Amino acid sequence: MKEILEINNLSKSFEIESGKLLVLDGINMTVKNGEILCIVGPSGCGKSTLLSQIAGFDGPDTGYIKLGKNKISKPGLNRVMVFQDLNQLFPWKTVLENVVFPLKVNKIGNSKHERLEIAQRYLSMVKLEDFYNYYSHKLSGGMKQRVAIARALAINPEILLMDEPFGSLDIQTRTNLQNMLIDIWRKTKVTVIFVTHDIQEAILLSNRIIVMGKSPGNIKKVINNELPRPRNIIDGEFSMLYKEVYNLMEV
Ligand SMILES: Nc1ncnc2c1ncn2[C@@H]1O[C@H](COP(=O)(O)OP(=O)(O)OP(=O)(O)O)[C@@H](O)[C@H]1O
Ligand SMILES: [Mg+2]
Repeated sequence: MKEILEINNLSKSFEIESGKLLVLDGINMTVKNGEILCIVGPSGCGKSTLLSQIAGFDGPDTGYIKLGKNKISKPGLNRVMVFQDLNQLFPWKTVLENVVFPLKVNKIGNSKHERLEIAQRYLSMVKLEDFYNYYSHKLSGGMKQRVAIARALAINPEILLMDEPFGSLDIQTRTNLQNMLIDIWRKTKVTVIFVTHDIQEAILLSNRIIVMGKSPGNIKKVINNELPRPRNIIDGEFSMLYKEVYNLMEV
């Protein structure tokens, strides 16, 4: 797989009361076109900070991130983020309107009709075709996240950034959404960078796993995950990989 994103010697610190807090230190990594890259690491190691840098929400102190040939300096339609927060939908808009809205704002699609078609296509992909007219207060947490995923994908980004998107869901809903994400990834071939605390989730989803350490955040190891799909947590090879990642994780 060709590399589409490159992070070169990236460091990031924040000003805090007691001075400067170095959060990311000398990060070097690449992302391959069409892969699911999972990033795991202990709380506070800088996973969300790293994702924000890739999204272009904030810039680095040193180093750079390149998507294709271009350095990332601001947010762009080629990178879209799905967050953990179950309240990331517009509560005054219906499910369908939530997906159509960013298309309209960003002038994607040539007509209202085309935008509706795009939105409906992605809402079918997340199996919400029967809920177009629902407002978010009537949706379960899993349904809200499915809308957020459809809304992100409808823009047709090169990279889907996901910051613990299933972290607030119960285990059964989480499993359903993990399987749904794999189906969608197969259909769309979108590149996914997926942050999670959960080692099992990382092994289920990923082509590669980046294990981060903390204080300051750094990359400890990049692991290829070549387990055949569908993956099963009770398989011996699954537990071997689990142990490898677990042993690298600082708590
Ligand atoms: N805007 C900010 N100002 C000051 N400190 C910040 C800011 N954003 C993040 N930090 C600090 O940077 C460190 C890394 O935070 P970050 O949210 O990236 O970690 P994380 O790995 O995503 O953690 P979690 O797994 O709990 O979500 C933490 O110590 C956090 O307090
Ligand atoms: Mg985080």
